[in-house]
Amino acid sequence: MTKAIFNKMGRRDVNDDLHTDDDETDDLHSSEVAAKAEKWKEHYSSSHRILFVGEGDFSFSLCLARAFGSAHNLVATSLDSYDDIGKKYSNGLSNVIELEERGCLVLHGVDAKEMSQHFFLKTQRFDRIIYNFPHVGFLYPENSYCQIQLNKRLLKGFLANAKALVKKEGGEIHVTHKEGDPYNKWDLVKKAEKRGLVLQQVVPFFKDDYPGYDNKRAHGKLSDASFLVGEASTYKFKVQTSNT
Ligand SMILES: C[S@@+](CC[C@H](N)C(=O)[O-])C[C@H]1O[C@@H](n2cnc3c(N)ncnc32)[C@H](O)[C@@H]1O
Repeated sequence: MTKAIFNKMGRRDVNDDLHTDDDETDDLHSSEVAAKAEKWKEHYSSSHRILFVGEGDFSFSLCLARAFGSAHNLVATSLDSYDDIGKKYSNGLSNVIELEERGCLVLHGVDAKEMSQHFFLKTQRFDRIIYNFPHVGFLYPENSYCQIQLNKRLLKGFLANAKALVKKEGGEIHVTHKEGDPYNKWDLVKKAEKRGLVLQQVVPFFKDDYPGYDNKRAHGKLSDASFLVGEASTYKFKVQTSNT
């Protein structure tokens, strides 16, 4: 009879009086290789060190963590406190717990406009920094001057801080943003270029590409509600270098 014993490190101990057959050894080897193999989800690879900014209920970062099988390369952040995540979103805390179980570092109270000074983040450099649907919350009518100014200020602060935290070689900052009025008044690309970032690519964003992702309004009584994504795009920026 073939027997195998696994120790706590997941390695196989074979005693003198036990033997394994070659097929079993091959199966074990191929499953270890598969677990380590690079996995991709749309623009993102399991080998990328990724920072998520302005998460709502953490369902976007969790979608990538599940796709990769491991979240050890991921740092997911929210402006909301841990308590607020529990109050605002029906799946917020369970998503955070699953992310942490998968090895993700989850940080709360991280302001996109100041994150390059954050005690931990300032020691890190990322391959991808992702902010989906930046928005300050519905303080004034969406089309009003005040609301647009506040959203522009958020974008400006995020871009400057993300530039400091992204890897200069091969790093990318991704902003997913609605198209059309009033969102095109936020001047995303102009703001990025002013801060020494170069637009690499604009790709249409489809929520269905990210199973489990539940985009949140994140503000007021309807925090847990989704908003209509409609026509939206992911804008990919990199740091301008002497070669670009
Ligand atoms: C429209 S919601 C999108 C939430 C989430 N990214 C999603 O796609 O479901 C905008 C998010 O921006 C966050 N936010 C607003 N101001 C911020 C700031 N200064 N720093 C970081 N996040 C901020 C809000 O807390 C909210 O989670």
